[in-house]
Amino acid sequence: MKRRTLLLNWILAAGFLVSLQSCNNPQNRDTNTENEMETKMETTGNMEAHSHDHVSMDISKAVCVLHPTEGNDVKGTVTFTKSGDGVKVVADVEGLTPGKHGFHIHQYGDCSAPDGTSAGGHFNPEGVDHGGPEANVRHVGDMGNLEAGNDGKAHLEYTDNMLSLTGKHSIVGRGIIVHAGEDDLTSQPTGAAGARVACGVIGIGNSSN
Ligand code: CU
Ligand code: ZN
Repeated sequence: MKRRTLLLNWILAAGFLVSLQSCNNPQNRDTNTENEMETKMETTGNMEAHSHDHVSMDISKAVCVLHPTEGNDVKGTVTFTKSGDGVKVVADVEGLTPGKHGFHIHQYGDCSAPDGTSAGGHFNPEGVDHGGPEANVRHVGDMGNLEAGNDGKAHLEYTDNMLSLTGKHSIVGRGIIVHAGEDDLTSQPTGAAGARVACGVIGIGNSSN
């Protein structure tokens, strides 16, 4: 009986030492610091913690300012506001030739190339065909066309059920391109809309604006 108690004590002591050691493990310490940081972010910002302990912003508005590509005068603003299951899109663009102009969200929020080609192809996280905004099968970035009047100004307002401000379909950080020509909504993979006349980057919007 006495011998058994000794053995038990020894096992307990060994276990205690092991747990002490794991507390001093630098890898564990890093994890703790990270968790502390995430907790701080949650309490100070507009953050939302997911079950797997990552942090994501709860974004309700995004905005994109369009600038002309080299040799063009097209500029404007596009806002995206969370609306039920979808996102309300409001675009005001000027400096266009009268008529229709392809209007898409492209893969990269990169307008560094003078001709806008750095924005890549259409934002297409599902790897499907190009289509119009009303089509069941379309790129997430397919917003169809802007239509400018004789004054070169276009106004577009609609609610899109495929766009999102969070998750896999999130458009935040992507680019917007306005094209010289019309998107025919069928030609693959771009709608044959021609050159890029304006480019902008979609950022997190200021909800108080
Ligand atoms: Cu495009
Ligand atoms: Zn497309």
